[in-house]
Amino acid sequence: MQKILVTGGCGFIGSHTVVDLIENGFDVISIDDNSRSTTYLLDGIEKITGKKLKNYKVDLKNFDETLAVFQENEDITGVIHFAAFKAVGESVEKPLEYFENNLFSLINLLKCVREFSIPNFVFSSSCTVYGNPDAIPVTEESPIKKAESPYGATKQMGEDIIREFARAHNSKSILLRYFNPVGAHPTTLIGELPVGRPQNLVPAITQTAIGKIPQMSVWGSDYDTRDGSCVRDYVHVCDIAHAHTLALQYLMANKNKTVCDVFNLGTGNGVTVLEAIKAFEKVSGVKLNYNIAPRRPGDVVAIYANNDFAVQSLGWNIQYDLEDMMRTAWQWELRVKEDEALISKQNASLN
Ligand code: WQD
Repeated sequence: MQKILVTGGCGFIGSHTVVDLIENGFDVISIDDNSRSTTYLLDGIEKITGKKLKNYKVDLKNFDETLAVFQENEDITGVIHFAAFKAVGESVEKPLEYFENNLFSLINLLKCVREFSIPNFVFSSSCTVYGNPDAIPVTEESPIKKAESPYGATKQMGEDIIREFARAHNSKSILLRYFNPVGAHPTTLIGELPVGRPQNLVPAITQTAIGKIPQMSVWGSDYDTRDGSCVRDYVHVCDIAHAHTLALQYLMANKNKTVCDVFNLGTGNGVTVLEAIKAFEKVSGVKLNYNIAPRRPGDVVAIYANNDFAVQSLGWNIQYDLEDMMRTAWQWELRVKEDEALISKQNASLN
């Protein structure tokens, strides 16, 4: 059984990917310092898979502690790197913390990959690297434009670091550029757990609908789009998770075209903010309380993916549509309410 190290295994996309990997026959361990995630989702992973995920509570910025995990697990054959700070707005306020955390962690991890000659590396990148694209849908060859935020810059630099590492060490790597991951596992046992007030659209919608937030804002309705609100490519987190399993299998079968292949993980459907809200209202039966507010600085006007390369080369087939995304997100919010006391206590303990 191939052992895979997932960094950020206690997080939103990490936990869903751990489930998919286990269901596809991989043995999985995690490194997660729980600075931005609690251990709450570990219970859900065990209930879904029957396997207890071993998580090493290690800060990847600490090289010696990170190396010790690899020394204890010399049979690791692949690494999937999720662990990073990812709030666009926060990165504008705290650029040094973002560059230090996201880049030092990556470099330490790659030093361990080199030290143990681990043959397969998958990186969690983002459509943010495209900035405000001149043409949509974007392909993997679309120009990389100046990042709109330090968060986006860390993803662009991260890609460059991995590309040069892969070339120098002939190490097979894959960069997965996510569009907007949303929704929750259909069992409602794992999902997204934002710490503090959610910055992203779908958790803001569900927390408003359940009453945690009195009213949400739609940031801008005067854009040059079909209804004036921004366009994004929302993709179900389980579809994103399965793409990671497919990416590992693609590398292990030596199907990669270069030492560092890039894939867009989006559905290929552009959806406006107002359309996303309407889809949520339809599946939940809840009339959402929102106001129209000024534009959010740094927002991209419109972006969605051309995902042909991922569909054709990884064999990636999208299973969930927009209503599934909203329905599972809402079911998860209802479940989180049942565990609210425990979750709030665990979130309060985050440093
Ligand atoms: C989407 C749209 C907002 C909240 C970021 C990262 C990306 C990925 C996903 C990590 C925008 C609008 C939002 C609200 C709103 N991160 N919105 N009211 O900014 O496209 O992407 O998160 O994987 O890399 O860049 O996502 O969900 O924050 O915003 O109107 O309360 O929803 O203005 O138009 P974004 P988002």
